[in-house]
Amino acid sequence: MALLWWLLCLVSTVCGHGPSNFIGDYETSAIMEAVNTVDGHHHQMMVFGQPRTRAGTIINGKRMNEAMTNLYLFSRHMSGPEYTDTMTRSAKISCMATQIMLTRGDVPNDGAFQQKMAPFCSIPKLRCNPSMRFRTVDGGCNNLNFPLRGRSHTAQERFLPPEYGDKFNLGYVPRVHSKLGGPLPNPRFISNILYTKGYSLPKSPLYNVALTTFGQFLTHDVSSVPLSRGNPDIECCDGNKPISRPECFSFKVPKGEFETTCMSFTRSESAPYKQCGPGTRNQMNQATSYVDLSVAYGSTEEDTSRLVDKRTGKLISGGPKGCLLPDGPSENCMGNSGCFFSGDTRHSEIPELTTYHILFHREHNRIVDILCKLNPHWTPDRLFQETRKILIGIYQDIVYNEYLPIVLGRDRMKKLGILPTVRGYNTRYDKNIDATIRNSFSVAPLRFGHAQIINHVGSANKDRSLRAKIPLEQNFFITTATRDEKVFGVDGISRWMTTELGYHADRFIADSIRNKLFETRPGNGFDLASVDIQRGRDHGIPSYNAFRKFCGLKPAGLIKSGPFGLPDHDPQAAKLLSTIYKHPDDIDLMAGGISEVNMKGALVGPTFGCLMGLQFVNSRVGDRFFYENEFSPTGFTPAQLDVIKMQTLSSLFCRNFKMGVMQPNAFVSLLAGRQPAVPCEKLPQLGPLELSAWKEIPFKH
Ligand code: HEM
Repeated sequence: MALLWWLLCLVSTVCGHGPSNFIGDYETSAIMEAVNTVDGHHHQMMVFGQPRTRAGTIINGKRMNEAMTNLYLFSRHMSGPEYTDTMTRSAKISCMATQIMLTRGDVPNDGAFQQKMAPFCSIPKLRCNPSMRFRTVDGGCNNLNFPLRGRSHTAQERFLPPEYGDKFNLGYVPRVHSKLGGPLPNPRFISNILYTKGYSLPKSPLYNVALTTFGQFLTHDVSSVPLSRGNPDIECCDGNKPISRPECFSFKVPKGEFETTCMSFTRSESAPYKQCGPGTRNQMNQATSYVDLSVAYGSTEEDTSRLVDKRTGKLISGGPKGCLLPDGPSENCMGNSGCFFSGDTRHSEIPELTTYHILFHREHNRIVDILCKLNPHWTPDRLFQETRKILIGIYQDIVYNEYLPIVLGRDRMKKLGILPTVRGYNTRYDKNIDATIRNSFSVAPLRFGHAQIINHVGSANKDRSLRAKIPLEQNFFITTATRDEKVFGVDGISRWMTTELGYHADRFIADSIRNKLFETRPGNGFDLASVDIQRGRDHGIPSYNAFRKFCGLKPAGLIKSGPFGLPDHDPQAAKLLSTIYKHPDDIDLMAGGISEVNMKGALVGPTFGCLMGLQFVNSRVGDRFFYENEFSPTGFTPAQLDVIKMQTLSSLFCRNFKMGVMQPNAFVSLLAGRQPAVPCEKLPQLGPLELSAWKEIPFKH
């Protein structure tokens, strides 16, 4: 009897309940209640929710605002709804059950909670084959001990725990409260001040639009957070009035700046976390976290199988001459110029981005042709996988050897130990490192690139003189320029983007995305700068100061420049921040980070530099298939690795587009006068000679 009483007491201590609780009772009732509520709401959304709105659709007798239809393009749903829906249902049930228990004064027991959640938990249990040669398409089983790490359609990880606005910090309310009480400043107010006022450095003296857009391509490779479903283009404004529903977090904008004074904002979708245990809202990444070209190859088996020609191992092509991307669902584009299909649905956000998709697409098919001749005995699947592995290797080399050294600075890359070696292996894999994308990384630091965007899209002749240009806002999700071979086309666009200088990476944001994002007529667009800030709050991202501390940097004590204030801001930026925020701990990570003075030799300040550095260390060291690893058979042979390391982005451009001449470093514009233009033949090649390192003598019986 005494033993039984002791056991009950132990249970009560562990669970925080009175002695009458048998482990799981409280959890069961909370979970059952949550299931009913979540499923009821889900059903309601499907039956009574706002209908999907497409351009010009008439709903309730009123013609939809065309810009609202662009909300669908915001929503970023990649695969079939079932992927996101089942995961989200689990996340919602576990979050709500946690809330129910906490409201009742019960502390959930992790083990019991997970056990009772099991029937409602959609997190798959993966069985991995440790001897598989190629990385999976969805990123699963990269880490053999934790197969779900970095897999598509799983929750993002966090550097710091979230700070939401609801009583139990579960994420029902975004981060909305100032430390001094009252609301945080309005995002458009921040955008209007911080992103426009003061002196703006002119365009970057060195770096071109190809650098900006490569960042966007990389972003889409590693992060894609879908927005709440129910209906993908969920409306969160009714004219000037924000709509109040759990999926919405719209905000006011001043009269006269846009058609209405309400800017529609849909909250991000969540995914279950840690075997559906109790806890807060965690946002989903539907792309693989790895730097693995899922942006081109897809992040699910279904997507990949739709992209690959099973008879040849090539990627299916489209366009009149069969050298563009294949045709895809029209809802991923605007206008009437048709839509493409690729590994990520944002392929046509701007024509320069589509050009990168086509670049890697063409290179894949070019390599397959050569490998097929070298190894006629290879099956189409083997051709596809070997080519994918080669191209991912080249791409990882471009990311770590060409792109990141510019963004983070070469010295910092060296200090972090992630600068590739010139030749040979450089194995740094650590199975304890989790490569999963961190929430704060994709919500703020990686968005630094929004500051580099310029206001138009252009086309250049072979001598790199400007042939034509059109405003950026006329190109969002429109494929006309990419398809038009006479004036633009991928050749003209690629010559232009490797020449035209991008904006300096600072706190100033181009009008085309700050006032006209996705607009279909003047006044009905969005402000990406405000959306970035609101997204951080939606995800419960703690303040700029919290991340300064996390990075070992001195937090701001006061909102002013100098050692006691904001040590990494110039006086002007610090002054602007002081007119916006009442307390230093209120400053949003995006606003604080993007307005820092850039580190020497880098395009970001110390806080963004720290967070980006940590993420890219994780992405490299936590990737068992990273191209520099000396692992057989997943890695390359020494001869193959030499060929991979020889390649450059410039050589890729040269092989796949009519560049004529090209600068050796694709990201440094010829206009900068730093490097000579060389004929394409002088750049590294990847033909039968180089690919002979992959020639395999068939085994004879
Ligand atoms: C004209 C070019 C671009 C446009 C129109 C654009 C537009 C957008 C939009 C609409 C979003 C979603 C915002 C939200 O709902 O939270 C977004 C997200 C994002 N953008 Fe951009 N962007 C562009 C270029 C870039 C560049 C150059 C970079 C980085 C170098 C970048 C990095 C990101 C990141 C990291 C996200 C979050 C992605 C996610 O987690 O789903 N973008 N962008």
